Amino acid sequence: MMKQFAAAAALSSSGPQDQNEKMRQWDNWPAITYEEVQHALVTKGDSFFNQARELYYQKKQQPNNDNDKQQQTLMDESQTLFLAVKQINPTLVVESGVNAGVSTYIIRAASPTTKIFAIDPLAKPICGQGKRWVDPSDLTTNYWGGNFTDLLDLDWKGMIAKKEVDPGSTLVFLDDHLHTYNRIAGVRKFGLRHVVVEDNYKLGEGATPFDKKSTPKQMFHGEKWKKEGDWLFDNTVAYAEFPPLVPPIMAAAFKGKRKEAGGFMVAADDNKDIVHPMLRPDLNEDDMKLYAHVADTLGYDAALVDNESYMQFMNYNQICHLELKSDEKTTIDN
Ligand SMILES: C[S@@+](CC[C@H](N)C(=O)[O-])C[C@H]1O[C@@H](n2cnc3c(N)ncnc32)[C@H](O)[C@@H]1O
Repeated sequence: MMKQFAAAAALSSSGPQDQNEKMRQWDNWPAITYEEVQHALVTKGDSFFNQARELYYQKKQQPNNDNDKQQQTLMDESQTLFLAVKQINPTLVVESGVNAGVSTYIIRAASPTTKIFAIDPLAKPICGQGKRWVDPSDLTTNYWGGNFTDLLDLDWKGMIAKKEVDPGSTLVFLDDHLHTYNRIAGVRKFGLRHVVVEDNYKLGEGATPFDKKSTPKQMFHGEKWKKEGDWLFDNTVAYAEFPPLVPPIMAAAFKGKRKEAGGFMVAADDNKDIVHPMLRPDLNEDDMKLYAHVADTLGYDAALVDNESYMQFMNYNQICHLELKSDEKTTIDN
């Protein structure tokens, strides 16, 4: 658990009122997370996304390691989806939305042994993304183009009965911009346990009509989705949003406008609805050095003056991890 987070959690859970036990906050950060629905920032249980900083920056001992240079941090080689695959160690990752195959590549890089179902109705990438990366491993089944079968139309019952799929160790990665809530409820029926949602837009934001009315963050916050939010909250063991790398104030020099669809942070954000960033270059010199190193390594300007550098570091969409309950009563009646 993050140091600041742990301190605040310990403080709040020692409070006399029930309400305090449902709230957690950080030093020098305005957001408060609530363990209940109808808030802008909700969390539940314990997800490894809450330990993002430690997991990214922990030193991994290499064989025959005799000096610091031979140590590697996870940050050097990865990002959110990579971390999720490493931590969950799934037997199957179902990737809904393949496009250029970036996420297929990351999943395979994180695990040489997991099965992958790569699903996309299109045989080729859109949005000028060039050629699709296709996994050469025979552990990957490509449900795309002529072989397309939607996530919810796969024969889950049959595959589980034949023990081809272990639902408890399956991770579903949603990056298809469809109705996220319905897809989570749909996979929950079959007992699939882990879901990572790539585009977890805030209330009122979204690039597509579904994006604007279906994400966990919206269901947990919007009054009109209280029923769905309650169901999702009751049916999860853990829910957490992955932190941004740095706070939006690092983009103070960027003069562009906020993107209408959302999905990007701007320096003027009030930060009440996003979790504490992994690094605080605005407060801490060592974190500033780490941030400058990341920007430099990737070839971007840490001051985020140009659009490309801004987009790389301020594109933040509250990517979340849900661990769903595994009991047998899995159906939803709405
Ligand atoms: C944002 S892109 C995915 C990006 C991809 N994950 C990557 O890392 O390169 C969204 C993709 O979802 C696909 N899509 C649309 N409907 C879908 C469906 N029913 N199931 C799976 N993918 C779908 C689109 O064709 C598009 O390629």
